[in-house]
Amino acid sequence: MNILAFESSCDETAVAVVRNGREVLSDAILSQADMHALYGGVVPEIASRKHVEAIAALTDRALEEASLTKSDIDAVAVTYAPGLIGAVLVGVSFAKSVALALGKPLIPVHHIRGHIAAAYCAFPELTPPFLALSVSGGNSLLVDVRDYTDMTILGATRDDAAGECFDKAARVLGLPYPGGRPMDQLAQQSPGGVYTLPQAHVEGAPLDMSFSGLKTAVVNLVHNAQQKGEPLDRAALARDFTEAVAEALVSRAALALEQTGHTRLVAAGGVAANSILRRHLEEMCAEKGVALYLPPLKWCGDNGAMIGAQGYYEYMAGHRGDMTLNGLATEDLDNLSY
Ligand code: KG4
Repeated sequence: MNILAFESSCDETAVAVVRNGREVLSDAILSQADMHALYGGVVPEIASRKHVEAIAALTDRALEEASLTKSDIDAVAVTYAPGLIGAVLVGVSFAKSVALALGKPLIPVHHIRGHIAAAYCAFPELTPPFLALSVSGGNSLLVDVRDYTDMTILGATRDDAAGECFDKAARVLGLPYPGGRPMDQLAQQSPGGVYTLPQAHVEGAPLDMSFSGLKTAVVNLVHNAQQKGEPLDRAALARDFTEAVAEALVSRAALALEQTGHTRLVAAGGVAANSILRRHLEEMCAEKGVALYLPPLKWCGDNGAMIGAQGYYEYMAGHRGDMTLNGLATEDLDNLSY
């Protein structure tokens, strides 16, 4: 079954063709990051307009790269939530038109379910149940994935997402947007151990996270040093910050593995590309005898393949959208409303 999949929830326009939820026939992406870098972050109105400009040509490219025509498509999948609402609506409106024009089923896909499903593209042998750690620009979640479409959030950030925190810390350190990757590169230049940064714990909810205190600590540290004219070891700060984020995520993933008894851990989302986080997850999983599934970097960030993969399993579960499908800025992955 060939699914044509659309993703436009933030600043990447992505269109892919995925066969039977696993085989990525094409994966066309146009990132707007360079444009938003001029403003130090995503400008929602610009994101929506750029999606409009890009989506039709990317669809042609995705079909061409898959060596298919429109008549070979069996269903259309699209990210309907969560995301920047104007951006999400571009994908939803376009996917609805394509589904209507081709007379094919429309499958709404939750963006974070999609991030988790990226692992199905990378690891053919992977099947639920497993624990997922999904860390991106908008979310930081621990998810009990019992089956392809049956999952529960075990823990979540109470404030900022880990990726958001990376982007803000990078900004005060003078690094370009999006800051995760440059922070990763800077952090690798130092062993760290110079700055003491806070670790937040949510009372009564050991799997929940909080990153805003850490973000504020980095911002204050940099501003204080600047105001006093004191030298700042930028690489050490990037390293200590990254270690603090990794510690928060890895310790909670370890606890969730113990609580659920899962023997497999899937990492997902843009922050899962972080080299230090990946190393610590590998160490923790090796110690616990847990199988770790780390998708390649191209499938950590937003892409269309992950929507095509999850779209297949949503389709198999009988989930369909119709021409009334709306985009949503927020929606929990374990409580779908369409
Ligand atoms: O999953 P994603 O592409 O978009 C969302 O769905 O949010 O995640 C983007 C986030 C950004 O905050 C970006 O800075 C972060 O992922 N990121 C990283 C790395 N690469 C991207 N964070 C830390 N280390 C990286 N290597």
